[in-house]
Parts: sequence; C-alpha cells; structure tokens
Amino acid sequence: MTAPLLDLDALGIDLDDRSLVEAVTVSVAPGERLGIIGESGSGKSLTALAALGLLAHPLRARGSARIGTGEGTVDAVTAPQRRLDRVRGTVLGAVFQEPLASLDPLMRVGKQLTWPLARHRGLRGDALRRAVLDALADVQLPEPERIARSYIHEISGGQRQRVAIALALAGSPRLLIADEPTTALDVTVQAGVLDLLQREVSERGMALLFISHDLPVVTRMTDRVLVMKDGRQVEVADTATLVSAPVDPYTQQLVAASRALDDLLPEGPR
Ligand SMILES: Nc1ncnc2c1ncn2[C@@H]1O[C@H](COP(=O)(O)OP(=O)(O)OP(=O)(O)O)[C@@H](O)[C@H]1O
Ligand SMILES: [Mg+2]
Repeated sequence: MTAPLLDLDALGIDLDDRSLVEAVTVSVAPGERLGIIGESGSGKSLTALAALGLLAHPLRARGSARIGTGEGTVDAVTAPQRRLDRVRGTVLGAVFQEPLASLDPLMRVGKQLTWPLARHRGLRGDALRRAVLDALADVQLPEPERIARSYIHEISGGQRQRVAIALALAGSPRLLIADEPTTALDVTVQAGVLDLLQREVSERGMALLFISHDLPVVTRMTDRVLVMKDGRQVEVADTATLVSAPVDPYTQQLVAASRALDDLLPEGPR
C-alpha cells in the first residue's frame, strides 16, 4: 500500500477545556479525492486547519495529523511551524471559502504569484514572468497580462478564487485542501470553479480534500466521504455507497434532504 498523503488519527481539537472536534480518523491516499460533509459548525474547517497546522491559539489539537512528504511524515499536531512551512505549498495546497483569506489586497496579482513560483521552482527574470502568466492562463483567467497587473479589488469574485487556486497550485502540491471553495460565489460562477478544480486535480494527479455542506457537490467531486456532526465523525464511505446506502441516521437525513430538493426540480435531464 502506498503511504497516505494525510493520515488523521484520533484527531481532536480543544478550546480550553471544551472539545470542538473529537476522534477524527481518516486518511487520504495519493490521487484520492476525499470529501468532508456536515452541517455548519460540525468541525469541518477546524479539521482542515489542524491538518495544515494552522490552528491558532487558544485552539489546540491532539491525536495526530501526519503529512506524508515522500521522505517520511510530519505531524501537523506537533511539528514546529518552520517545519510545516516547508510542507505547506509543496505537499499541501489550500483554497478557502473566502479568496481574500489567501490574497493580499495591496499587491498586484502577478506580484503575489512571483513569490511562490520563485521559491518553489527557483525561477527568475523572464522565466518567472512567463510562469506567472502561464499560471493565470492555466486557471482559465482571460487576459492573463491584465489580471497580473490588477489588484484584487479590480477583479470579480470568481476571478479572485481562480487566482487563489493558481496560488495554491504554484508549488505543485500533492494534496489540495479546498474548504467550501465555491460557497461565497454566485451560482453561475460556482460550476466553472468546480470544473476547474476537477480538471486540475485529474491532470496533475493530485489528491483532494474537499469540504462542503452540499451533498450533490461533494458527490460530484469525491471518491470517498467523511460525514461529520457536532465535531464527530459519523460515517466514512465510498461516495457511491454513501449516497445509495447511507448507514448512519444523520447521513440518511442528508441524503433524503438532497433527494427531496431534487424532486422539486422538473423532470428531464439534469
Ligand atoms: N477560532 C475559534 N474559536 C472558538 N471556537 C471556534 C473557532 N473556530 C471554530 N470554532 C467553533 O468550532 C466549531 C466547529 O467550527 P468549524 O468552523 O470547524 O465548523 P464548520 O463545519 O467548518 O462549519 P461551516 O459549515 O459553517 O463552515 C463551531 O462550534 C465553531 O463555533
Ligand atoms: Mg467551515
């Protein structure tokens, strides 16, 4: 068996003496697409942040979140930040709900991309400038030259999220963690961004940890799903099995709710 890229083992997250996340145990293999689904406040984002080693004081993780680097593992629960800095960007990439979380409002888009491209690929000068434009074209942004010269307040929300994706991909991560990457976007823009993520993941052979509260979206994006409720893991199953034969009562509710919505739509191809 190939070593997992991410291996969460009895991962818990506490705020002082209160437990917010309890005993999450799941792993992501190279090339695998794992979803996390659950209602608001169920602990999805905290789990992703713990895996990235990005929980801020006073939140504290316990258990382990081992990241497979190819030359061993780094435990995001215990590793020092400078060790995790070398893993974030290269082994793990991250895209969040709000693109502004990873973008700098005071720096032109092109400039923001030069830093990770220079750092991870050792590029300089013209090669670096070309790589910036290629990275923007790769996420299907029109007029890469214009976008590169723009500040993020000068581009649309969908374009910003594409820039955030380009930034996350700049270090060629082996696992992309995407936390509700389309929730903040207009519905008409969402589908395009999901298509882009799907294409990047398959073309690069990346693994994906995809977080959403939307079952149809998770079904489309993943091979396996972890269901969370109240900070606990209630079920992990292959996506197809989860949808056709959910075991836990909460998962059954999720599936039934999404069917009920489906039934409101008129008959015909969807
Ligand atoms: N920085 C924080 N300080 C204190 N409590 C927090 C913090 N971040 C999250 N929580 C709490 O931890 C629980 C899990 O939060 P989390 O953000 O992981 O939920 P989520 O499943 O991502 O929800 P959503 O679907 O709304 O994004 C919630 O009860 C939340 O209020
Ligand atoms: Mg969240």
